[in-house]
Amino acid sequence: MVSSQVFHPILAKAASVQLLGKSPAGLYLRLNKWVWERLPSRVRDLYPIRSYGAWLHTLVCLRARREMYFGTFFLRNRPALELMRRLADQKANGSTLRIAVLGCSMGAEVYSILWTIRSARPDLKVLLEGVDISKEILSFAEKGIYSPSTSQSVNASIFERLTETEMVELFNWEGDQAKVKSWLREGITWQLRDAADPELVNILERQDMVVASNFLCHMARADAEKCLGNIAQLVSPGGYLFVSGVDLDVRTKVALDLGWEPVRELIMEIHDGDCSVRADWPWEWWGLEPLNRKRHDWQTRYAAAFRIGSPERR
Ligand SMILES: C[S@@+](CC[C@H](N)C(=O)[O-])C[C@H]1O[C@@H](n2cnc3c(N)ncnc32)[C@H](O)[C@@H]1O
Repeated sequence: MVSSQVFHPILAKAASVQLLGKSPAGLYLRLNKWVWERLPSRVRDLYPIRSYGAWLHTLVCLRARREMYFGTFFLRNRPALELMRRLADQKANGSTLRIAVLGCSMGAEVYSILWTIRSARPDLKVLLEGVDISKEILSFAEKGIYSPSTSQSVNASIFERLTETEMVELFNWEGDQAKVKSWLREGITWQLRDAADPELVNILERQDMVVASNFLCHMARADAEKCLGNIAQLVSPGGYLFVSGVDLDVRTKVALDLGWEPVRELIMEIHDGDCSVRADWPWEWWGLEPLNRKRHDWQTRYAAAFRIGSPERR
């Protein structure tokens, strides 16, 4: 892959140039997108084409205004939920499992995790901290009432990844309004906090699992790197950090610097498990590059789950 870092100073200038009120970089990207969308997927998968895609994605990122979105889905990444279920399954009968979900937005991720784990292990006492920086979104999450128009800012229904059976298992329905069932609303503490706050580690207890999905990508690289180091401190030794929706160079660097152990189980499935972010590469700044097994660091780069503070491998 092209190293995006190498081109930044030149690209940053090229990306912002305007000629007669038009952006040549914008035109170049539109033309490339037109061609890209007409390529067969087997051609797009060729190494030189992927490398060219990485170059285009760098340009897209340089032009992007990284606005904060609240968009989310129930059962957003099924393989990631399956890995959480398997990890929870290692807990002794009747024990307590602590989970923190940072940047939890409207709560869909929180309830999806609780549904997955409590359905499989009803004996566990699952205590979950739902953390978000937005007061409005957090009170929405706490109410746990949704409708198909809830996540309209991302032009997709918050329910779109659910089957009919799951819609019934997760919610009580009144018309098109869905209220999360009470057994999934228990054991949650909603926390209005900044995940980057160094005090967070003194406020929350150490967690068996910490989940940080799709908010670090909004931050400048240096801030995301610092925030990720902060988040990792919340994980109890031998616990797990799930982190996705973050610049892969940032995640890889922090993982290597802090000696996190990538979880190899379901690594490829989880990478491809959130269909929208994979499909949006290279044309959107949040797009996720295809997994490249030829990279020497591929396991660290593409793992979205890490064991923290333990040499044990999975
Ligand atoms: C795109 S949503 C992600 C929702 C969910 N995690 C998912 O992956 O579907 C991003 C959420 O992160 C929250 N957020 C952004 N920066 C944050 C921070 N520093 N600390 C806590 N939450 C943050 C936003 O308020 C927003 O609700």
